[in-house]
This record gives sequence, C-alpha cells and structure tokens, in this order.
Amino acid sequence: MSEIVREDPGEGVALVRINRPEARNALNQEVRRQLAEAFTAIAADNAIRVAILTGNDEAFAAGADIKAMAEASPIDLLLRRNHLYWDAIVRCPKPIIAAVNGYALGGGCELAMHADIIIAGENARFGQPEVKVGIMPGAGGTQRLTRAIGLYKAMLLCLTGETFSGREAFEMGLASKVVPDGEVMTSALAVARTIATLPPLAIAQIKEVLRAGQDASLESALMLERKAFQLLFASADQKEGMRAFMDKRKPDYKGR
Ligand code: CAA
Repeated sequence: MSEIVREDPGEGVALVRINRPEARNALNQEVRRQLAEAFTAIAADNAIRVAILTGNDEAFAAGADIKAMAEASPIDLLLRRNHLYWDAIVRCPKPIIAAVNGYALGGGCELAMHADIIIAGENARFGQPEVKVGIMPGAGGTQRLTRAIGLYKAMLLCLTGETFSGREAFEMGLASKVVPDGEVMTSALAVARTIATLPPLAIAQIKEVLRAGQDASLESALMLERKAFQLLFASADQKEGMRAFMDKRKPDYKGR
C-alpha cells in the first residue's frame, strides 16, 4: 500500500494524505520520496490551484522515522539527500495548507512548517522533541520555528523538547487557525476552496513574495513586492478582476 494517498476533493484542490498509521506517520525514505513526487506533480498541474497536506486523526506525522536512522552514519545521512525531497515541497508554487490533527513532532512539525497555512485541531500535539533522542531538529525546525514564533519561545521548545497543543500553536503564531479536532479538514477545505476561486497568478506571486521576503532585507523585499505587483498588471485576470468589480459581477479568472 502506498505511503502517500492522493485524494481529489475537486474544485482545483489536491489532497495529499500521509498513510503510515502503524508508525504514527513517521517519515521514512519512501514517505519523503512520495511526498516530493506528489508536490512535484501538483506544481506542474494547471488544474490544481491549492493543496492540502494531512495525516490522520492520531498523527499528522510523528517525526523522522527513528528506527530508520538509529544506526545511520553521517555519510548515510548525507547520501540520503533528504533536503532535495523537502525542497520539492517548499518550491511548490501553489499554496499548501497543512491540516494537522494529532502528533506533529520533530520532522512532522517541520513538515507542517513547509506549508503556507497551518490549520490545527485544538488537541494537536506539536513540538521539536529531537533533543530527547540525542539529536536536534534537522529539517528546518531551528530556523522556521524561530521565524514563526520568535527566538526565545523557539529556544525553550527546542532545548526542552516540550510539546504544545494546537491551541498553543495558534496563540504563539505557528498555526494560522485553530478549530475543534473534528473540524480540521472541513476548515482546510473551506480555506482551500476560497483560494482556489482567486486568480492563480496573483496567488502564486503573493506566496513567492511572502516567502522570499522573509529572508531578504526590508528594502529588497519591498522591491520584490513592487515588481510582482507591477507584473500582475500584465495578466488578463487583473483586467477581468477590476472590470468585474466595475460591472458589479463575479469575475471569471483563467490563470492568465
Ligand atoms: N519513528 C519511528 N517509529 C515511530 C515514530 C517515529 N518517529 N513515532 C512512533 N513510531 C512507532 C512506534 O515505534 C510504534 O511502533 P511499534 O508498534 O512497532 O512499537 C508505533 O509507531 C506507535 O507508537 P507508540 O506506541 O509510541 O504510540 P503512542 O500513541 O503511545 O505515542 C508518540 C505516540 C508520542 C508520537 C510516540 O510514538 C513518540 O514519542 N514518537 C517519537 C516522536 C519523536 O521523537 N519525533 C522526533 C523524531 S527525530 C526527527 O524528527 C528528526 C528531524 O528533525 C528530521
């Protein structure tokens, strides 16, 4: 059985589900490879406008597969080239929504942070507990968590390995929304469907500028924003959006 299941909720939304319930969706090489494959396909598919990444009720993903790395040497890790799999997700130009129930620990929390929007169940369990098994976050946790919630909270969480709930993730600024556990997918689908009706070129530019701007100086980031803003005036969807506003009708966006 496949470690990753693609579902088709329709209306331009792709749903990618991690399917390793026997291991709390721990990320082994096959899960990583199939995730990269799924997001590479989504990036190239014009019919897909937004993706949801999820697990099951018990686990989004309980981290890197500890059993698959317990005896690894540094060279084994180097040759796995896992960063290339992660890159395939982060480079996807379509918005990705992480719908998180249950455990999102270690590599699972890092995976959620590869998404652009995180919708968490109240009782989801986030954390970077790697220190408890003798290591440290290795897929962006130290850097992305710090950017999301600030140095001192990230330091406390990475140094103690303490976990925190979906509600706490929301209060810290890691989760975009917190909802009752049973409503995570409904909420993710509603957000996805809203984004899917909006002009895809503008959506892609917004994602790219927000992401790239995080690591640039304010001056460079504002220039990126300005250039992307100006570029959108070359799109048919900009003309359509503004004409529809003036004609008092619903716009019909084509992604051109
Ligand atoms: N790796 C491998 N197997 C895992 C796993 C992981 N990260 N998490 C859970 N499993 C397996 C368990 O070994 C168990 O398998 P068996 O039935 O064969 O024993 C099965 O999933 C069910 O797990 P539990 O019985 O432990 O379930 P639980 O509900 O009692 O606890 C849990 C769930 C709190 C998530 C607990 O399993 C746990 O603490 N897991 C490890 C979490 C962790 O430390 N993650 C960080 C990993 S390191 C990392 O991610 C590095 C990085 O940054 C890239």
